[in-house]
Amino acid sequence: MSIADWFLLLVRWLHLLGAVAWVGGSIFILAVLRPTLQGSSQEAAFSRTTGREFRNLVDVAVSVLLVTGVILSVSRLTSGHATVAYGFVLGLKIILALGMFSHVWFRGRRQTPTVNQESATVGSGPMGNLRGAFTANSLVLALGIIVLLLADLLGVLFENAIGGT
Ligand code: HEM
Repeated sequence: MSIADWFLLLVRWLHLLGAVAWVGGSIFILAVLRPTLQGSSQEAAFSRTTGREFRNLVDVAVSVLLVTGVILSVSRLTSGHATVAYGFVLGLKIILALGMFSHVWFRGRRQTPTVNQESATVGSGPMGNLRGAFTANSLVLALGIIVLLLADLLGVLFENAIGGT
């Protein structure tokens, strides 16, 4: 393997780590931490602390994903194997990724609501549940899961183009 190959391997690894940290962390918070803390006396304090620490992690992940994503895109698009379909899926992936990033970039100084505050904001009943299900964090996670699917699709499209199938 050439030095350029090693460099690209490092870039892919960092890109993957950024994705795992952000999407995996979001799944853990929404599916494990929130249900566990809900209604407990320490819910507010835990939510605030973990929210702050997770935001720091996400800030690093966003920078890593952005820089490594640009390098991977340039590498793929200049390889001579990028098809129109590849460019289309990559464009879609970038738009969805920017949607995820914008949530982080424009969050300003607002605090992550605790579980109790969030429930109060979205209300109760069927409509409240629906709104609750689509809080900003859930939306970012949904986008992240779709972006992961598109990343896999890109890999398949690229391999097919190389193999000429
Ligand atoms: C501006 C933002 C981004 C750009 C330009 C970008 C671009 C790319 C490119 C070009 C690839 C290589 C695809 C191939 O195999 O041909 C890739 C792979 C990948 N991307 Fe992104 N990406 C971005 C953001 C994200 C985000 C936000 C996530 C996760 C939520 C993500 C997750 C992945 C994963 C898991 C891979 C596969 C890595 C591997 O196994 O090699 N990307 N990305």
